[in-house]
This record gives sequence, C-alpha cells and structure tokens, in this order.
Amino acid sequence: MSEETKHLQTEGISRRSVFGAAALASLVASQAADASPAEEPKAFAPLPSFKFDIENQTGWVGEAGSAKEATAAEFPISQSIAGVSMRLKPGAIRELHWHSLAAEWAYMLEGRCRATVISPNGQSEITDFGPGDTWYFPRGHGHLLQGLGPGECHFLLGFDNGHFSEFGTFSITDWIAGTPPEILTRNLGLPASAFAQFPKKEVYICPGKVPERAAERLRDTQLQPAQFSHKYRLDMQPPRVFPGGREFLVSSREFPIQTSLTSIRMDLQPGALREMHWHPNADEWQYYVRGRARIRVFGSHGRTRTEEFGPGQVAFIQQGYGHYVEQMGDEPTEILILFNSGEYQEISLANWLGGNPSSLLEDNFGIPKSMVEQLPKRETGILAKKA
Ligand SMILES: [Fe+2]
Ligand SMILES: [Fe+2]
Repeated sequence: MSEETKHLQTEGISRRSVFGAAALASLVASQAADASPAEEPKAFAPLPSFKFDIENQTGWVGEAGSAKEATAAEFPISQSIAGVSMRLKPGAIRELHWHSLAAEWAYMLEGRCRATVISPNGQSEITDFGPGDTWYFPRGHGHLLQGLGPGECHFLLGFDNGHFSEFGTFSITDWIAGTPPEILTRNLGLPASAFAQFPKKEVYICPGKVPERAAERLRDTQLQPAQFSHKYRLDMQPPRVFPGGREFLVSSREFPIQTSLTSIRMDLQPGALREMHWHPNADEWQYYVRGRARIRVFGSHGRTRTEEFGPGQVAFIQQGYGHYVEQMGDEPTEILILFNSGEYQEISLANWLGGNPSSLLEDNFGIPKSMVEQLPKRETGILAKKA
C-alpha cells in the first residue's frame, strides 16, 4: 500500500477537501484499471430517467373534475417537487383542504377559477385566476378552488415536496367524518343528527353552483382581508428577453410570499438553445405546455443522459447537474419551470469561461490562445437558431 493510499484511507473523505475528493477519485480510477475482478470497485450507476408523461396518466377522474399526479411514487427522481395537472368543470369545487408537508404553487393554463385561502394570522383572501396567473399557498394555509366557467379550467400545480400526495393532504370532510358527533356538536353547534348528512369520507372534488361573477362576501364580514396576496400574474411580469427566446421569472424577490419556489415561464424560438448551465441551490422541474425540446444532463464521472420532451411531459434536473435545452421542431416551445428555492441561482458555462485568465484555459484544455479567444466571456441565456 502506498503512502498516499494509507493517507487517504486514514483521512477518508470526511475532510471534504476538493483536493482530497479529486485525489480519491483518481485513485479509485487507477485501482479499477489493475484490480482483479473480485476487487473491482463498483461502477457508478448510470443517470436515472428524468422524464415523466403526466398527461398520459389516468389519475383521478370524477363527475366534476380530474387530477393527474407526478409524485416521487410515480417519478422517483423527483424527490423535492411534485406536480398535479387538475381540471375543474364550471362550479366544481376542490374542497377545503391544506397540505401539511408542502407549499402549493399553480399556473392557470386555461379557463378561470376562484380560490379562498386562510392564513395563520386570521386574514382571508378570495380571488380569481385566469390564464397566465399563478398562486402560492404557503405550507399549511387552508384553501379551496372552484371552476368559474365557461368551460373547464385547467391548471398545473407544483408542490415543494415530492412526497406531498401520499402523506400530506388534509381535507375538511375527512376530518369531520373521523370526529365523534358529540365533539362536532360542541365545536360546530349543530345537533349530532345533522352530521349524518355530512359526507362519510373525503369529497376531494365535487360539483358546485357556478358563482356570481363578483366574489361572494365572506361569512365573517369582520374578517381582515389578506394584506399579502397569494396571487401573482406571472405572464404580466416583464420578461427577460434573449436572442433565442424569453423568460418570465418570479422568485421571492418579486413575490415575497413565494419563499420556497421560483417559477419561470420559458419560451424558446425554433432552433433556440438554452445554454449550458447549472443551478447551485435548487432542483429544476419542467412541464411542457407546447412544442418540443431535448435536454442533456451531465452528472459527474462522465455520465450523461439525453431525453426528449413534448406537451404534457415533465422533466426533473437534480441540483448542481449540468444541462442545456435544445428546442426541437418548427413551432415555438413553451415550458413552465419550478425551482425548489425562493432564490434563483444559476452559473452559466460562458460566464465561468469569462471568469478565468486565458492562460489557465489554454492549459486546462490544451488549446492555443487563438482558440481561447473565440470562447464566450459572458452568458447569452438563450441562443438564437444557428445562422
Ligand atoms: Fe391544495
Ligand atoms: Fe436550468
């Protein structure tokens, strides 16, 4: 055993020094070259699939609406973000509920809906959403949604926990059905017999009356209206415009209540390339609204994986993994994106190259200065189609 090996074995990787980790990796690689089969170190597992076809699921279907999920159960790589595609018929109600383990974000794709939401400070909000609007309900805030018509409304929900669905939805009918009548009588003021008329189990989505256009008054007219809205009109945000497309970006800076997520609508023109980059602080979740694109992910140790995406499909890129998005097809591509942090962070390969002296890049790549001079110095964001 060499001194270096002994030293590394004593030191382990607990020091977490970059030098130590790099030296260990090269040591493992050199051992792999001359080790006998019995001693061969484990190969690195290939990168897992990062694609899921959410709209192709059957999901939950009822007379008043439907819901399709992409949680960690169906889409194992997606541990930190879950998504739901939900449709409500006019008047239909996604009943009063809260989520114990996740905040809820949504983007209205088609139609209109109304929401009520109660905050821990006692303030309540009733507000309407149309295409391009988003909401954010912090973890635990009680809420209800209702389709306003005309026609079905369709919205995309995002949760900042991939496991929210299995353990985390608390519905009012479920709670009442599981509470002894004498307690309900004391607490809610109706005779015990009245509770026989209540649902025996969770209603989830049920039919309801199409409401008046003007929002109905809240039962407690003395209640303080919400001073911090749960609504943000994402499509009304001034976009960041790039040569090959644009991005509407909403982080907690623009929408202070949205503390745990950043949302982006990204539009790619035909032939565009969302340039090579990574996100140091967050996983990235994408839903394809229209058009197609190809993503290639780089996950260390030379591992890469490419997947293609189209309408109704979801992508998940793990925190810190390098990636780019190549637009495909003649129609523009529209993608809704979530990051599981309220602060948006990105490092582009181009900025990194600009942030180093030429001589270091010459030696790192083994190329002449004349080639280094042609490399970008600053990010473009979204590159336009090749001329
Ligand atoms: Fe919800
Ligand atoms: Fe990204």
